[in-house]
Amino acid sequence: MRIRVPGDKSITQRALVFAALAEGESRLSGLLRAGDAASTATALRLLGAELGPLPRDGGDLKVPGLGLDGLSMPSVPLDLGNSGTGSRLLLGVLAGLPLTAEISGDESLRGRPMGRVTEPLSRMGARFEFLQEPNRLPLRVTGTHPLSPLEWESPVPSAQVKSALLLAGLTGGASVVLSEPRQSRDHTERMMELAGVTVVRHAVGQGWRIVVEDPPRRLEPLDFAVPGDPSSAAFLLALAALGGAGDGIEIEGVGLNPTRTAYLELFRRMGAGVESSVTGSEGAGEPSGTLVGTASSLKGVTVTPDEVPGVIDELPLIAVLAARAEGETTIRGAQELRHKESDRITTVVRNLRALGAEAEELADGLVIQGSDRPLAGKVITRGDHRIAMAFGVLGAVGGNRIGIDDPDAVEVSFPGFWDLLRAVRKDAAR
Ligand code: S3P
Repeated sequence: MRIRVPGDKSITQRALVFAALAEGESRLSGLLRAGDAASTATALRLLGAELGPLPRDGGDLKVPGLGLDGLSMPSVPLDLGNSGTGSRLLLGVLAGLPLTAEISGDESLRGRPMGRVTEPLSRMGARFEFLQEPNRLPLRVTGTHPLSPLEWESPVPSAQVKSALLLAGLTGGASVVLSEPRQSRDHTERMMELAGVTVVRHAVGQGWRIVVEDPPRRLEPLDFAVPGDPSSAAFLLALAALGGAGDGIEIEGVGLNPTRTAYLELFRRMGAGVESSVTGSEGAGEPSGTLVGTASSLKGVTVTPDEVPGVIDELPLIAVLAARAEGETTIRGAQELRHKESDRITTVVRNLRALGAEAEELADGLVIQGSDRPLAGKVITRGDHRIAMAFGVLGAVGGNRIGIDDPDAVEVSFPGFWDLLRAVRKDAAR
């Protein structure tokens, strides 16, 4: 069966921010129309951005940019809902503007660490007041202009941290030199280049260094098509690998940025039949193409700490596939999973066990024993979209009977997920 998946969550939110800050009209298409993107769009509107409703079915959105200094003080707190990306991007944007704003989010987002962003932004000159708990939302940010230049070694490979600092450099008119211990996804750097910013980046040992010196005072508008989200496509490829898509599945128009596709290699190592071909650059600057997945017998793998940043969002799915693979799977160096929409180490292990699979929690990862005995029970998603979808895939294949407590959790990144899953299953049964 040939399908498409919704627009990329990371790229959509960046495109909205860059379009709002550009000088002139941007034209965006393929935007994700889902909870996280809606939260970021609403926050930008409260800051004065002229953003129309996110179009259905990937249609065009024209955004008249306000320029790097065009946003205004919001009269109400900005509620970023479940969006870690939206909250951290906007903290960066606001740090470099002479405004005060309150930022909050849902229960999950209020539990996630913000100090990793607010600490370097404070060094640049922004001020943060934590309104409930230290280093957590809700907080009040008071930006300033210009910001001081920053040299920063991020202790975690985090694209959200990196993006917040680069955006602060743009609105705050400050040079930024930053390094991360491994390269995280590079959508912000690519979009900065499209907007006319010179970004120097290169590998340093195992790590990665980015330099933006004397950023320009204006951003070029974007003419940009957001590709499908490879992290969403992963769930359908997993379904195919587990035999739930009959002869296989073909997913078109998916983003194939190499900082996002390391999971394909891991799937292959597990024995999954997956192929990718770059067919074009559906938004100049972001490669895209087709993914094909077929049924396969799977075997356990070892995921090393070096590999984790490249597959961070797919690890819950890999753990779930591992429960259906032959042998043991070990994932180490993945403590960042504890800071996602839920503590994904605990959530995955508890749910696998509740279904009758063998899994063990480590401080920095997990160990799963594969088996082919039927799995049954109720999954507690903790409101985490990727937990709902990973176990949804497991529940859709032969012999398993799995209920999901909060199927609507998928709405933040993949509306229509359950309908698509059903359609693929139905097609496979024909
Ligand atoms: C994202 C970065 C990653 C990823 C998240 C989206 C982004 O988070 O897990 O789903 O859009 O920059 P971290 O930056 O916390 O690693």
